[in-house]
Formats: sequence, C-alpha cells, structure tokens
Amino acid sequence: MKKSILAAAALLGACLLVQAADAPWQAIGRPATPAEIKAWDIDVRADFQGLPKGRGSVAQGEQIWENRCAGCHGSFGESNEVFTPIVGGTTDADIKSGHVAALSNGSVPQRTTLMKVARLSTLWDYINRAMPWDAPKSLSADEVYAVTAHILNLGGVVPSDFVLSNDNIADVQKRLPNRDGLVRQPGLWDIKGKPDVLNTACMTNCPTEAKQTSSLPDFARNAHGNLAEQNRPLGGVRGTDTTRPARAVLAPAAAVAAAAVAPTVVPAKAAAGSDVQQLLSKNGCLGCHGVTNKIIGPALRDVAAKYQGRADRAAYLQTKIRSGGAGAWGAMPMPPQSQLKEADMQAIVQWLASGAQ
Ligand code: HEC
Ligand code: HEC
Repeated sequence: MKKSILAAAALLGACLLVQAADAPWQAIGRPATPAEIKAWDIDVRADFQGLPKGRGSVAQGEQIWENRCAGCHGSFGESNEVFTPIVGGTTDADIKSGHVAALSNGSVPQRTTLMKVARLSTLWDYINRAMPWDAPKSLSADEVYAVTAHILNLGGVVPSDFVLSNDNIADVQKRLPNRDGLVRQPGLWDIKGKPDVLNTACMTNCPTEAKQTSSLPDFARNAHGNLAEQNRPLGGVRGTDTTRPARAVLAPAAAVAAAAVAPTVVPAKAAAGSDVQQLLSKNGCLGCHGVTNKIIGPALRDVAAKYQGRADRAAYLQTKIRSGGAGAWGAMPMPPQSQLKEADMQAIVQWLASGAQ
C-alpha cells in the first residue's frame, strides 16, 4: 500500500517535471472568463466602437459635476489645484476651424483638457474609466454621458438644453474645438528631433545618450507659490526656489533643470530679507505661510498689511504668534509657537510690523 502511494507520487512528480520542461506556463493560471474579459474590455475607440448605449443631459451633468467633480476641478472646470483646468482657452472660432488657436499663438498659458482633446471618445472613455479620481468606475454610462455633456456645455460646444447620447455623439465630435489638431510632435522625450515613440527598442548594450533630466516649464513655475518657501521641516524632498530665474525670462532648459535639482533650502533673497527668511524657515513658519502667498495660514505680507494702521500691532502679533489661535483669517488655527526664541520673535515681529518687505 505504502509502496504504491510512493510510486504514484513519483510518477506524478515525473509527469509534472516533463510538463514543466515542455512549457512551464502550461500549469499556471486559467483562461479568463467571458465576464472577466467584458469587465476589462471597456475601451471606446475613436470611431466610438465600444461605446455603451445611454444618454445624459447637461442639467443632469451639472448636478453630478457639483457633487462628484467640482471639489477637485472647480465649479466651472477652472481649478488649477489638483490638475490643469478642464475647461477654458477655446473659442467659437476654434469650434468652426477644428484647431485651437491658443495652442499655437500661446495666448493661454496652460493646455486645458478641452484645448487638447481631439476625440470625444477619449474624454468619455477617460471619465468612464478613471474619474472621479477617488472612486473610479463608479459612474453609470448615463452619468458619464451627462457629465461629458456638462463639460462640453461649459466649453460652449453644446447648448445648455443638450442631451448627449450614443446616437448624437458622432455629430458633437464634429464640433470639438481641437478635432483637427492631432500632432505627432511633441512626443514624450525628444530624441534627436524625433519623439521617442519612434525609437527602436534596445535590450542589450544600449547607448546611454538619452540622459535623464527633469525641468519645470516656465508657465508652471510659481503656479502654487514658491516651492522653497513651503518646505516642511522634515522629509527628504526639498522644493526648489521657483522664483528664480525671474519668470518672464525663459531660461535654457539645462539651467532650469540644474536649478530644479539644486537642494535650495532657503532662497537667498527671494521675497523676504535674507535674515528673516532664515528665521522663518528655521522656525517652521514657511510650512504654513508663504511670504507672498497663502498656504495653510495667510501670506505674511497680507498679515503685515492688515495691521499697518494699528499702533499696537507689534504687541498684538507677538501675543498671537506666541499663543496661537484662530478666527482672524479663518477657522484653521495657528498652533502656539512656544519654541520661538525671544530674539527670533523680535526680529520676525519687527519685520512684520514694518510691512514684511
Ligand atoms: C479627488 C479629486 C478628483 C475628483 C473628485 C475628480 N477628479 Fe478628475 N482628475 C483629478 C486628477 C488628479 C486628474 C489628473 C489625473 C492624472 O493625470 O493621472 C484628473 C483628470 C481628469 C480629466 C483628464 C484631464 C486631462 O486633460 O487629461 C478629466 C476629463 C476629469 N478629471 C474629469 C473628472 C470628472 C468628470 C469628475 C467627476 C465625475 C472628476 N474628474 C472628479 C482629480 C479629480
Ligand atoms: C501649522 C501651521 C502654522 C504654522 C507652523 C505657523 N502658522 Fe502662523 N498662522 C497659521 C494660521 C492657520 C493662521 C491664521 C489664524 C487665524 O485665522 O487667526 C496663522 C496666522 C498667523 C499670523 C497672523 C495672526 C493674526 O491674528 O492675524 C501671524 C503673524 C503668524 N501666523 C505668524 C507665524 C510665525 C512667525 C510662525 C513661525 C514661528 C507661524 N506663524 C507658524 C498657521 C501656522
């Protein structure tokens, strides 16, 4: 009995070995079920093949947008906070021509979604698979139609009583502002004048000419204030001084890249006098306050301006900084800054009282 079990085990082992030697993947996994393939196969092609049937009005879309999208993208698709704005930069003339003029004349500093997108299927598909960001694939097909209609209405592509559906989406495609604006350039990385999507794959002994660099485009610098001023005291990532070089001056890519990797902790003389800047940085104030921009707390220059007319402003500010508190600028409290040394406190308060310049 024992003997035969052993023999059977040995035989089984041998079979597995033979099979493994033949085709090691044979023993792995199982064919996907039709339901699994269906759940995965949701792409909508440029010719709208794959588009589910459905319909949704601009008005329904506005509701969905307010509830599910506006928090991140702004009520009018204008917000720059989490991503480039969705709506803006397109004109009636673009809808006629099929080319977004602002993309070539540079009159709009950013590329909004409606400026870029050339196929309505892309917009529909992207929202359907990826949005809202915090709960992707939670919208029904009708809801995706509705919210897409609302975006198109915000961009003046369809009227406010419009109902977008699988039947009329191809007609709306003919009004998409950038429908004829597809280009091959710019590619991802520019390698010898060609986008790297045309590169030949290299797996061994590859040339190392494609050096990795990173740079911040001029229009994006300072979009969120000076990053260097917002450094948290802890952590490995140091924000660069995005006020340098001055924004209007287009720096050569290499110089911008170099500035971007330089570990700038304290901008030399960016917005505050360098001494005060050091103190603000050392005492952790710049994690919550920009000198010229609001972060969690108000811009320090705004604080200075608010109390300019008050004779006792130095004493007031000192007490507020020392003990913290809320209500002057909003509900967010300022924690007590008990760690602040007396000399540092005096220097900061003097600087604030005299205008924070
Ligand atoms: C929690 C924040 C958040 C919410 C809520 C949200 N989005 Fe987004 N959305 C993002 C982010 C972040 C990106 C950029 C994602 C990326 O590039 O990987 C994005 C990208 C997009 C884009 C693509 C823009 C482009 O040009 O590539 C569209 C369109 C969009 N969102 C629509 C919506 C719609 C419609 C809703 C509501 C149903 C929604 N979003 C809700 C954060 C959000
Ligand atoms: C954790 C975030 C945080 C830090 C760190 C912080 N602040 Fe504040 N600060 C706030 C907030 C929030 C307010 C707005 C409070 C309010 O509305 O009353 C504020 C308000 C202020 C005000 C205006 C007070 C008023 O009544 O108008 C001054 C001045 C100020 N902070 C200075 C400093 C200085 C100096 C430091 C560093 C020693 C510092 N803050 C650190 C969040 C912070």
